[in-house]
Amino acid sequence: MKKVYVKTYGCQMNVYDSERIMESLDKQGFTETKNSDESDIIIFNTCHIREKAAEKLYSDIGRLKNQSSTKKVIVAGCVAQAEDSEIIRRMPEVDMVIGPQTYHKLPDFVSRLDKKKKFIETDFPAENKFNLLTKRKRLDKKPTAYLTIQEGCDKFCTFCVVPYTRGAEYSRTTAELLEEAKSLVDQGVVELTLLGQNVNAYHGESMTGGTSNLADLIYELSKIVGIKRLRYTTNHPNDVNNELIHAHRDIEKLMPYIHLPIQSGSNKILKAMNRKHTVEKYIEIIDKIRLAKKGIAISSDFIVGFPGESDKDFEYTIDLIKQIGFAQAFSFNYSPRPGTPSADYDTQIPKSLKDERLHRLQQLLKEQQFQFNSHFIGKSVQILVEKTGKEECHLVGRTPHLQSAFFKDIKKISKIGEFVDIKIDSVKVNNLSGELIESS
Ligand code: SAH
Ligand code: SF4
Ligand code: F3S
Repeated sequence: MKKVYVKTYGCQMNVYDSERIMESLDKQGFTETKNSDESDIIIFNTCHIREKAAEKLYSDIGRLKNQSSTKKVIVAGCVAQAEDSEIIRRMPEVDMVIGPQTYHKLPDFVSRLDKKKKFIETDFPAENKFNLLTKRKRLDKKPTAYLTIQEGCDKFCTFCVVPYTRGAEYSRTTAELLEEAKSLVDQGVVELTLLGQNVNAYHGESMTGGTSNLADLIYELSKIVGIKRLRYTTNHPNDVNNELIHAHRDIEKLMPYIHLPIQSGSNKILKAMNRKHTVEKYIEIIDKIRLAKKGIAISSDFIVGFPGESDKDFEYTIDLIKQIGFAQAFSFNYSPRPGTPSADYDTQIPKSLKDERLHRLQQLLKEQQFQFNSHFIGKSVQILVEKTGKEECHLVGRTPHLQSAFFKDIKKISKIGEFVDIKIDSVKVNNLSGELIESS
């Protein structure tokens, strides 16, 4: 039996895709290994969002090929879509290049790898790959799962490769999503995170033949008894509607956390980025969300050093962060991506200045994250136990606000997949810890 090792880079949608790929290969008689050394086939499920991510792929393939020349190498994901046959030109040891829209073809290609020399498949086919992939049969027993509900993007922010690598915006139907969600629940899942490059642009066919938005879908999914927690990511400010905000107020299973990327606190830069929203609009949305759901965790993405970003523009971003107060956020140096409009702007910022700004911004975000976590000291929070921690008696899970939290369970009362209450006694930037509250 051939063994397959999958290495996943990039966003959660790639994690979801890797699971679906492995599930369909498993059905064809391949087995997954977590040890790349013992694999016959290695799949790199790649990310093209920033230069570093793409370059890492080439160094990883090089390292692997130094170890073994017999392994078959497959490059999937967004680098495959963006660089196509160029990958094989640069690295002739690669046997297959396959883009994200054609994973349903992978099992057939893999079974013919020994006979055929190379496979390159980067079309955007008319048929829906989700309907052509095998039914869900999870290979792990995790209590949490991702569910891709929407793919692609039509927004064309000037820095971003996603519209090119993932194609046009597409939403799956409510019926197929309910079916997949139920099947996941039957396999032990209690927490579901809905995914999309613009998840809140979701507009899939409803059960009655009309159109569902994200709030409608969340409402439908919340009726599935086995689902205890719902999350969704990642959002665009322009697609936040009142129904989604009210869903946070009305649907108890919807967790108090929203990831809403703004990228910059300067309207001039937002315009150059083609974000189509202003700082004021963003603040207005956050105010509404906070009014609807007190204490909700607000998260965001920031790009530092976009072409033309002056000291003043950067200060606006710092001011915005201070004004909002984030529970958590991701931040990156601007990375010019080939084929995107802003890569050609002649106002590029030197790396040293980007580094300096990023460092300052990240310090502030870390302080805010610590502050957010500090509010939980002395409080009892419910966590879903996901795994064991560094020490054997430590169990780790997530709070409703998506913080990582751990506790000692010396008596081994709790199990993975269970909800427990813990009393928080200490917090760090990246986690909370506390004591198990034993139910009487
Ligand atoms: N759809 C989401 C973002 C998806 S990409 C949105 O509209 O916000 C995830 C994040 O990667 C982005 O939010 C952005 O912060 C970052 N990113 C995308 N392209 C980038 C680039 N060229 N350089 C640096 N960061 C980038
Ligand atoms: Fe990229 Fe998000 Fe902009 Fe789409 S909306 S182009 S995914 S940053
Ligand atoms: Fe990367 Fe593609 Fe996701 S570029 S962030 S893996 S959509």
